[in-house]
Amino acid sequence: MAQPPAYVVRTERLVLRCHTPELAPLRQAAVAASRDALLPWFSWAKDEPRPVSEHLKLTRSLRGKFDLDQDRIYAVLDLNEKELLGEVALLTRAGEGAREMGYWVSSLHAGKGVATEMASALIRVAFEVDGLKRMDIQVGVGNDASASVARKLGFTLEGTLRQRPRPDGGPPEDTWLFSLLASEYPASPAARVPVKAHDIVGELLFEADAHRTSGSVLV
Ligand SMILES: CC(C)(COP(=O)(O)OP(=O)(O)OC[C@H]1O[C@@H](n2cnc3c(N)ncnc32)[C@H](O)[C@@H]1OP(=O)(O)O)[C@@H](O)C(=O)NCCC(=O)NCCS
Repeated sequence: MAQPPAYVVRTERLVLRCHTPELAPLRQAAVAASRDALLPWFSWAKDEPRPVSEHLKLTRSLRGKFDLDQDRIYAVLDLNEKELLGEVALLTRAGEGAREMGYWVSSLHAGKGVATEMASALIRVAFEVDGLKRMDIQVGVGNDASASVARKLGFTLEGTLRQRPRPDGGPPEDTWLFSLLASEYPASPAARVPVKAHDIVGELLFEADAHRTSGSVLV
């Protein structure tokens, strides 16, 4: 992953932005509105709704990890950047040359293709800019909505991980492991999502449209 990271990724309807403390109030509102949908799959949701000050602490930590080339958690915003529609993450725990993708979408915007669009954009950037070899998605057994997202994006179900401890500290659970390899990516829907990626100072890193199966890295 030699390229500088994409701090901002733009799609037709969305802006994916490296989390920053300024976004804490938007995060607080979106998480509070989505608590019931998040609760079965994310143990941290049980503590919500929490005050903005707690979201401020968390977003500072997310920003720090992003800057240190650790986990990249993006806030997903509408084009006017007035509302947080969800979050999408590239986590390092998948190992060298790989990333695990995580995501959630605000209940106020579920069922509109937001997960598909934000995940596709980050998949395209990860394979084409970062040169990823494999991407994983772990889905709690029974989370059919999330499994649908993974399948729709061309991921293959490798199997069920049984009673593994949850990375968020929750009780052990069975988890479906999906993956997409670099060799499979060009045929996946993500390879056709229009996307623009910018580095930390706003320089264009990568731009690709629906018709090119391989974008060009500009720097
Ligand atoms: C899972 C989640 C991210 C889906 O977000 P979304 O923006 O509504 O998803 P999309 O609109 O892009 O839909 C993608 C596909 O999933 C399917 N899907 C969405 N919600 C579904 C549901 N509740 N049950 C079954 N399929 C569902 C859609 O039908 C669509 O497939 P299609 O185009 O073939 O019809 C969202 O429901 C969510 O955040 N859930 C709670 C948190 C969570 O589970 N995160 C994932 C942890 S692994």
